[in-house]
Parts: sequence; C-alpha cells; structure tokens
Amino acid sequence: MTRWLLLSSLFLLGGASAHGDSQGNGFKFFGYETWPVNYRDLCDGIIKNEHHENSSLYCAVFFMDYSWIKVEVLDLEIPLVVFRDLLEDSSVNTMVEVITAAELKKQSVVGVVNSPSRQANGSWFRRNANNATEAIFTRVDRAMPNVEIRSSEDFSALSYHPGGHYSPHHDFLTYFSDSEYDYWMKNFGNRYATLIVVLQPAEKGGGTVFPHTNTTVRPNKGDAFFWLNMNEFQGMKDRSLHGGCPIYEGQKLILTMWIRIRDQPLLLQCRPDGSLSLDLLLKPSYSQQRNYYEVPREDYKSQPVQSKLEKQTVVSSVSPK
Ligand SMILES: *[C@@H]1O[C@H](CO)[C@@H](O)[C@H](O)[C@H]1NC(C)=O
Ligand SMILES: *[C@@H]1O[C@H](CO)[C@@H](O)[C@H](O)[C@H]1NC(C)=O
Ligand SMILES: *[C@@H]1O[C@H](CO)[C@@H](O)[C@H](O)[C@H]1NC(C)=O
Ligand SMILES: *[C@@H]1O[C@H](CO)[C@@H](O)[C@H](O)[C@H]1NC(C)=O
Repeated sequence: MTRWLLLSSLFLLGGASAHGDSQGNGFKFFGYETWPVNYRDLCDGIIKNEHHENSSLYCAVFFMDYSWIKVEVLDLEIPLVVFRDLLEDSSVNTMVEVITAAELKKQSVVGVVNSPSRQANGSWFRRNANNATEAIFTRVDRAMPNVEIRSSEDFSALSYHPGGHYSPHHDFLTYFSDSEYDYWMKNFGNRYATLIVVLQPAEKGGGTVFPHTNTTVRPNKGDAFFWLNMNEFQGMKDRSLHGGCPIYEGQKLILTMWIRIRDQPLLLQCRPDGSLSLDLLLKPSYSQQRNYYEVPREDYKSQPVQSKLEKQTVVSSVSPK
C-alpha cells in the first residue's frame, strides 16, 4: 500500500541570515547565569520566524492521507526537521483550552523544586486523554511513518510565561546504574528522539536553540519539530544539545513527546557504518515495515490521565559548555 502519493522535488532555501533587534536586551530572569553568553546570543537577535542561518539546507513537501506535509531540514547531522502547519487549528485550540484549564487549577499548587536551569509549568497527558491529544497523536504518527511513536512517553504539556526557560541540555538520560531505571527506561529504553508540537509561540523570545549547529528554531502555531538524541552507537548525540530560550513576552505552550528507542524502524535501516540517512524520515517505501502494536500500560495506572500543572524538575543532564 502506498500511502504517499507524491514526494515532491527538494528545493534550496535562499539565504536566511537576517538579524533583527536584540530581543532580550537587559532582560534578567531567574537562571540567567545557567546560560553561556554565546548560547543566549543565539536566542536573541534573530527576527521572529527566521528559522536558521544555514542556506544549504532544504525542504520537502509530500502528500499523504489527503493532506500536505511540509518538512524543513534545519540540520542534516542531528538531524533536525520542522513540520510546518502539521496540526489542525481545532486540535491546537482544544489543547490550549485544556492546558489553560489545567493551569488554572495550578494556582493552589506550591512548587518545591526550583532549578535555575529550568523554569516551566507542566502536566502529562496520555494520548487518549481527549479528542485533541488523539488527533495530534494520529497526525504526528502519519507524518513520520518511520518513527514508532507508540514507544513514546505521554505528552508533556509545558507552559512558559516570561522568565520561563530551559537552559541547554541533552534529552538523552544518564544513569549511574541500571537500578536507577524507571518504568520508561526499563521497558522502552532511552530517549531516542524528541518531537515538540507548538501550540502557542511566545510573543517575544522562547525559540529553541541548538548551539552546536548555531540553529534557532522559531516555529509557529501548529508546527512541530523533531530531532534525534542518540547517535549510531546508541549513546548520547552531543550535537542534540538544545535549550528553550527565555520568554520575554507572551506565553509559550508546547507538547513534548520523548520517543523511546524500543521498536524504532529507523534502527533497522541504518547504513553499514550505523549512521542514518535522512531520507528514511521522508521516504514512503519503508512504511510497510512498521510494526503496529499497542503498548501495555497496566503498570503505570498510577499516572493520571491529566494532572495539574506542576513546576517541572530537571530530568536530563544539563551540560552547557
Ligand atoms: C550548512 O550545513 C551543511 C550541512 O550540515 C554544512 O556542511 C555546512 O558547513 C553548513 N554551513 C554553514 C555556513 O554553517
Ligand atoms: C473536541 O470536542 C470539543 C467538544 O465536543 C469540540 O468543541 C472540539 O472542537 C473538539 N476538538 C477536536 C480537535 O476535535
Ligand atoms: C508557573 O506558574 C506560576 C503560578 O501560576 C507562575 O507564577 C509562574 O510564572 C509560572 N512559571 C513559568 C515559567 O511560566
Ligand atoms: C556560530 O556562529 C558564530 C558567530 O557567527 C561563530 O563564531 C561560530 O563559529 C559558529 N559556530 C558553529 C558551530 O557554527
């Protein structure tokens, strides 16, 4: 069965290197010092919607399941790709309402953990929590036929008000011994890839920087972006270092999916040297090899379908250079 009817030609993006006013001039936030100055500079000084400075990258458009999927490749090596206009407005709007309602409950919650490297409020949503999470899950699933998103943790909904940020870190988890593994690590392995769905960008600030590639992702409402956290030896991919830039104005709302390594079709299709071709993310012919299954969830019933927004703790290694 061919789900993809067309894979259009790739085309070059012309020079995107304009710099705007420095947005963060003088803005001090809790955890300011956790940002190396050159990484913070990467957050600032680039006009909104300017996605990257590397003009040698490309975008692709393909038609699948009666809709267009638009992909921009921001880095070939990580790789880092942005899916433009991936989500329907109805899914986004519903999800924003749900999170906003959850956040209102938050007022009575007093956070204890207060890491200067991460300032955010958040909540978990299972993929079947509501019609919006279901619609979003299905849409992401169709856009990435070679990524097994059933091996991902629940959606992590994150809200960032001015001063919110997450200084550069890797999503790859590091443990000193196997005995420290949690449910996800034991059953699904490490965080192979990350997908971030943008429900609402901030008015100012709040991009996502990848300092090792000089890339700042500034997606719009309804976009999603994706990258790999693990290298071909299944160790940490250093180049995946990324940070959530400080918010200066407005509120940023995102859904994060941490996709675990279990049952990833991409792993079976590496080059002989173990590296990965980006084509695998974009080509239809591998979709037949997908292994559909539903993950048994008996052992984490304790996790509520929807919880109040809580202050987020740092879960992954922070390693700004
Ligand atoms: C742009 O990206 C390509 C591929 O990753 C890389 O070879 C090249 O050096 C980059 N150019 C600049 C100016 O960073
Ligand atoms: C979800 O259901 C609500 C209430 O029926 C409706 O207003 C909303 O548009 C739906 N959202 C989606 C994404 O289907
Ligand atoms: C988290 O929620 C609290 C209480 O509503 C708010 O004061 C704070 O600004 C929020 N933090 C971020 C980073 O959005
Ligand atoms: C990032 O950009 C800065 C300033 O343009 C440059 O000095 C630096 O070498 C670049 N780093 C990488 C990894 O491309």
